[in-house]
Amino acid sequence: MTQTLTIARPDDWHLHLRDGAMLRAVLPETARHFARAIIMPNLVPPVVTGAQAAAYRDRILAALPAGMAFEPLMTLYLTEDTDPEDVAAAAQSGLVKAVKLYPAGATTNSASGVRDFNRVRPVLEKMAEIGLPLCVHGEVTDNDIDIFDREAVFIDRVLDPIRRTTPGLRVVMEHITTRDGVDYVKANDTDLGATITTHHLVINRNHILVGGIKPHYYCLPVAKREEHRLALRAAATSGDARFFLGTDSAPHTDANKETACGCAGCFTATNTLSILAQVFEEENALDSLEGFTSRHGPAFYGLPVNEGTITLTRGDAVNYPAKIITGEGEVTVFDPGFALHWSVSA
Ligand code: NCD
Ligand code: ZN
Repeated sequence: MTQTLTIARPDDWHLHLRDGAMLRAVLPETARHFARAIIMPNLVPPVVTGAQAAAYRDRILAALPAGMAFEPLMTLYLTEDTDPEDVAAAAQSGLVKAVKLYPAGATTNSASGVRDFNRVRPVLEKMAEIGLPLCVHGEVTDNDIDIFDREAVFIDRVLDPIRRTTPGLRVVMEHITTRDGVDYVKANDTDLGATITTHHLVINRNHILVGGIKPHYYCLPVAKREEHRLALRAAATSGDARFFLGTDSAPHTDANKETACGCAGCFTATNTLSILAQVFEEENALDSLEGFTSRHGPAFYGLPVNEGTITLTRGDAVNYPAKIITGEGEVTVFDPGFALHWSVSA
């Protein structure tokens, strides 16, 4: 029996598109299935000002193949020198939909991130005033904090204090990886949401380390113990509107992944929706898929749900390419480790 599921066209609330040849290669992988995405600003140099975001948006639209529709939702990279008035102007013009907070040194291309949170207080206050969300990479970077504890410690030491001292600030905890993250969101009713990636619903830390090191499963925040993966699956499939999809699809060339000091990031744009359909089916929650991929995110950001739809059809195994070819080299597509049975059509 074929089973089909038609849902409002999804959005990706956390995506890395890069620039130049990489942008041209990865953009169609997202635009094929997604209408919009929150575009991460961690280019080198980062997208810091409204003018830089406008120029980056133009480069993204210029890279979109003819006949494809896609709306990039731009973000600004928060630095200690960010000007609150520039942020407000970029938001009020409709160009910028969020500001991204990277603790300095937390992840790929985050060297310009924030060290002293007091220095960004005027920006956060302006954002609270105008209702512009702060997207947070929630990991401390202190050397004495174990990498597997960095999210939980961030919540206590940084996130909760920021939220208490900036009432009304709307925050997205991005790519949560722990039960602690899930619990923190659930304990706070207003102004707080969280994105969950596809890969963190599929892998735990054993997938990275058991039987040989698997560089293509290494991302930040790093996947945690199984109990945390199960908490994420429960949150994503629960129908709770505070949780929505942000794939964090983060392409790096194989040369940069398969090396002595490999980059963090899983590239999931290509097969994300087939994987998610399977995860939600396994959890007996297919009726919650549309909320997670297509409705909760727009509700948080105050944007309309997309008018278009996609249809997922369950049938024979669906094959995706193992790698995509880019002008910078090959990029490996995330391997969920199981056969996929849901195909996607527009
Ligand atoms: C991201 C990247 O490659 O830009 N990497 C990752 O592992 N997720 C940065 C990020 O979102 O942390
Ligand atoms: Zn990311």
